[in-house]
Amino acid sequence: MIGSAAAFAPATVANLGVGFDVLGLAVERLGDEARVRIERRGSGSATAEVERIEGDDGVGELPATGVNNTAAAAARAVLDDVGVRAHAAIELHKGMPIGSGLGSSAASAVAAAFATNRALGSPLRRAQLLNACIEGERLASGRHADNVAPALLGGLVLVRRTDPVDVIRLPLPAGLWLAVVRPRTQVLTREARAALPKETPMAHAIQQSADLASFVSACYSGDLDLLGRSMCDVLAEPTRIGLIDGAEETLSAMRSAGALGASISGSGPSLFALCRSKETARDAGEAAVGVCGGSYFLSRADVPGARPA
Ligand code: HSE
Repeated sequence: MIGSAAAFAPATVANLGVGFDVLGLAVERLGDEARVRIERRGSGSATAEVERIEGDDGVGELPATGVNNTAAAAARAVLDDVGVRAHAAIELHKGMPIGSGLGSSAASAVAAAFATNRALGSPLRRAQLLNACIEGERLASGRHADNVAPALLGGLVLVRRTDPVDVIRLPLPAGLWLAVVRPRTQVLTREARAALPKETPMAHAIQQSADLASFVSACYSGDLDLLGRSMCDVLAEPTRIGLIDGAEETLSAMRSAGALGASISGSGPSLFALCRSKETARDAGEAAVGVCGGSYFLSRADVPGARPA
């Protein structure tokens, strides 16, 4: 054996109600843990396999073990990036169900990539792992980085490009909290992406550009009213809201409870509200479960990314 290490990567809220495929935020409480053993094997190329998966909160089905798993793909990509022809044997502990809209596949990929790098003696810096994490995520739902980037780097991340990768950590105004609501249904990202229209009217593209720009501006200025006003999604939310029972009423209840903004987390079914304080986030969470059932948890908005476990 060359080395072994374990790592944790947090759940993430992608899109954030205004940046479809380009904004993502790490959250507290949920996440995946990967244990990786690096072994020398006679093979001429790097290989990786998930040998065991446990956990998942008992809600969703577990992803398959084996090589066709986001964790295995990300670990293999790290070995390739480092130039080590070895085998990564992975044990995965899922801290959230797949299909929850909280970046489950991304958390597995990031935890595995981070642990693989550590098991090799950390030849790559954190940011250099991003490409391998995106390679992992690609297996689950295509080449988007709005879950893997915040899961790896923490905080709020803007994904400018995925190929070549170019991401920007955005500042978060102090004191923000989230209420994350988990209805009792499952939505698979692949299906929620397939449901989206293939084309966007020019007027929608203009509105979305303006809202994303004003959201980023509000992150820098700390103007919370502008931040909330900017959280409008005309690209994905109008289609996806119909895939989640009671979502429209739930988002509306969270806004009425004082949230700055509320939307679908990633491809759903989880919903979230961004709030100016923990108390308001609790009000929004209570209001939400009063409408849609399920459960909610609270998270600070500024949460670290992957870490040793
Ligand atoms: N941006 C992606 C989507 C995130 O909305 O499809 C998936 O979690």
